[in-house]
Amino acid sequence: MQAWKDYQNEHKDRFLEELLGLLRIPSVSADSKYKGDVAKCADAVKEHMLKAGCDSAEICPTAGHPIVYGEKIIDPKLPTVLVYGHYDVQPADPINLWTSGPFDPQIRDGKIYARGACDDKGQMFMHIKALEVMAKTNTLPCNVKIMIEGEEEVGSSNLGKFLEDNKQKLKADIVLVSDTSMISMEHPSIESGLRGLAYMEVEVTGPNRDLHSGVYGGAVANPATILCQMIASLHDENNHITIPGFYDKVQELTDAERKAINSAPFDLGEYKKELGVKSEWGEKGYTTLERTGIRPTLEVNGIWGGYIGEGAKTVLPSKANAKISMRLVPNQVSGEISDLFKKHFESIAPDYVTVKVTAHHGGEAVVTPTDSVAYKAAAKAIQTTFGKDPIPTRGGGSIPIVALFEKTLGLKTVLLGFGLDNDNIHSPDEKYDVFNYYKGIETLPYFHKFFAEALVS
Ligand code: BES
Ligand code: MN
Ligand code: MN
Repeated sequence: MQAWKDYQNEHKDRFLEELLGLLRIPSVSADSKYKGDVAKCADAVKEHMLKAGCDSAEICPTAGHPIVYGEKIIDPKLPTVLVYGHYDVQPADPINLWTSGPFDPQIRDGKIYARGACDDKGQMFMHIKALEVMAKTNTLPCNVKIMIEGEEEVGSSNLGKFLEDNKQKLKADIVLVSDTSMISMEHPSIESGLRGLAYMEVEVTGPNRDLHSGVYGGAVANPATILCQMIASLHDENNHITIPGFYDKVQELTDAERKAINSAPFDLGEYKKELGVKSEWGEKGYTTLERTGIRPTLEVNGIWGGYIGEGAKTVLPSKANAKISMRLVPNQVSGEISDLFKKHFESIAPDYVTVKVTAHHGGEAVVTPTDSVAYKAAAKAIQTTFGKDPIPTRGGGSIPIVALFEKTLGLKTVLLGFGLDNDNIHSPDEKYDVFNYYKGIETLPYFHKFFAEALVS
């Protein structure tokens, strides 16, 4: 639509400046030190919603960080799109590995570098700008409700209650989310699934205090060694996970489904080169795309214990700890997998240590249909602005709230993300291409148009 193109063109510099402004606010949800900045970011998002043309926008307090909610209702009889995104970001550590400051956004080589550039400020802000484009050109084809939360990166633990409490207010026909990635701009794709998550923490305790490693070493079990042995035993020689019952509910895909997944463009050589690894790794019998898309995994996210300061200290630590997460696939239940993990980890602890296993947050996997009206509208929107049909892919990441949209509100979700796998989300030098940002703003209005037209006709 020419009016959209013209409006975006005329305002594109401001659209970029406004995003940079949001990226300057360190809205790190995990770290209480940034609580004030998280609140400040929520305020900024609310102001942007109003400026973009929402009839109303509000800060909704929760037991944790606030949710920002806005809406523009043009006609209650028309379809309604509920946009979801998050304004909180992951911690920036390790800060010394950033080329420029994580909260001092800089554009190099056409890419915006900052924490949250892609995940998810850059992507959620595309929706606010797309709404502005439609509202200011009087071309909004449907009602828009927009909910941007501040706790996605810490497990969205208060959003479930918000959904329960606001069923009426959040009534919609579809949820639209931009918080996932595409294969590339040459190969636009739409994720048709997300993995679930079960996140655990373990503590292994040996002696009742730190010991001199010469006086006691060799005669008392070192909990760090034992923890490593226990963790190592969680995968077998084929890199299958050894927790009894772990795979019980996992569905094997049909040959046709696997073929479809593997037909997506993917260059293993490039992949290894880009990551600086000589060889890939993973569960025997599955390709890399299957390993990240349709198979469950278990990863150590952090491991510590003993002396890690400068220089050397000879110590046999009393405790060793690890954070371990499992990515889950449809049918596996996060709570059940946490229980299986706990039971197994406790059972493999040798007598010379005690273990404590606690569960952190979790979430369920989802598969979004590719034959729905909403998916087709998204595919047509991509076709319109990229000139190519999108490839459906199965994403490896998790957005636990998507399963709750279905369970609590009865709503399906379309994952229309514009990030790239190498955008360094959660890592130093996170980036988002300016091109992708603009492409997203250009594409999203077409989703609204095609979705509304399909429902109304
Ligand atoms: N946007 C990501 C999830 C994502 C990334 C999905 C790339 C698909 C492709 C989201 O912000 C995220 O990081 N989720 C967490 C889970 C959450 C409970 C902390 C994740 O996947 O680790
Ligand atoms: Mn995200
Ligand atoms: Mn994230």
